[in-house]
Amino acid sequence: MYTAFQKISSIDPDSQVIAQAGKILKDGGLVAFPTETVYGLGASAYQAAALRNIYAAKGRPSDNPLILHIADFSMLNELAATVPASAKKITEAFWPGPLTVIVPRSHKVLDEVTGGLDTVAVRFPSSLIAQELILAAQVPIAAPSANLSGRPSPTSAQSVLEDLDGKIEMILDGGDCEIGVESTVVDCTTAVPTILRPGGITYEMLVELLGEVVVDPGLSGDSQAIPKAPGMKYRHYAPVAPIVLFEGNPDNVRQTIVQQVLYHTAQNKQVGLLVCDEWKELMPKVAALVTYGSLEKPAEVACDLFESLRSFDATTVDIIFAQGIVERGIGRAVMNRLRKAAGHKIITV
Ligand code: TXA
Ligand code: MG
Repeated sequence: MYTAFQKISSIDPDSQVIAQAGKILKDGGLVAFPTETVYGLGASAYQAAALRNIYAAKGRPSDNPLILHIADFSMLNELAATVPASAKKITEAFWPGPLTVIVPRSHKVLDEVTGGLDTVAVRFPSSLIAQELILAAQVPIAAPSANLSGRPSPTSAQSVLEDLDGKIEMILDGGDCEIGVESTVVDCTTAVPTILRPGGITYEMLVELLGEVVVDPGLSGDSQAIPKAPGMKYRHYAPVAPIVLFEGNPDNVRQTIVQQVLYHTAQNKQVGLLVCDEWKELMPKVAALVTYGSLEKPAEVACDLFESLRSFDATTVDIIFAQGIVERGIGRAVMNRLRKAAGHKIITV
């Protein structure tokens, strides 16, 4: 299949291009598009064959349900059987934006979207291109992240092209995503709302608004619990080389990483490092050193994280050592993705 690649302005999206992309969706095709979080791989929510093509293009397990993207509050009522009070409250505060709510599904929602669950995930993105595209398609758009299953989510159109060229009809290039990690997923069907995936709308922001929020026990590194969001149970966000993540006291982390680098280099291993800007000069020489931004600016770390992880695939490193950051605010999302990328090979010092 030929994949059309179209540049489009994120300030003033070209209505011709949007109309063309909307038509592809209406005709049952797949279009990758930017959102404020990561690029999505879109299909019409109401076309079963198109939805199955999403799973095929990504190589995604079919038990991992999709998020439906809307461009207007009223579209939530069409997709939800009921809107719980907690969902009403947080969507009013944080939509449009990087927040996905899990609500009971209406009869309109297809099994291909939910993987047979009786709930559905809904998000109203703030990206203007995403909103225009949804309005042009005239239906909610089902969209997972536009990467091959298991790879880091794409935050640039170039990364989408790398993974999906020849597999989908069109890629809209609206530049790099602002936030860089996927939306916060909140299950609003539980008595106390539950964070199933941390993201741009932080735990602290949700607690301030709701008073009480729980974090799915399946998300913590040492728990034996199975995560409630099916997508959170897979190794994910991972480059080809294995990653070892170091967490804990920063001085101990730095010393341990240095020791590990020296040890593995002596064994003739090619080492990759993923550390903060501040440590760049403090590290021994390695095959590939990637910095993910300053520790003082965790939002920038989030923004660069996935492209940093992807960049190791252009190298020949045998192993990657990554530095953890403080688990606060957006730092929770960063640590969640790093732990998953490490497949839970985590060393706490
Ligand atoms: O920022 C984002 O959310 C991006 C952009 C494209 O909007 N999308 C995204 O989609 O990250 P995806 O498919 O990569 O992740 C969706 C997550 C998965 O972990 C999935 O298991 C969970 O949401 N999910 C979807 N429907 C669910 C449901 N009914 N119950 C629980 N978890 C659900
Ligand atoms: Mg994904």
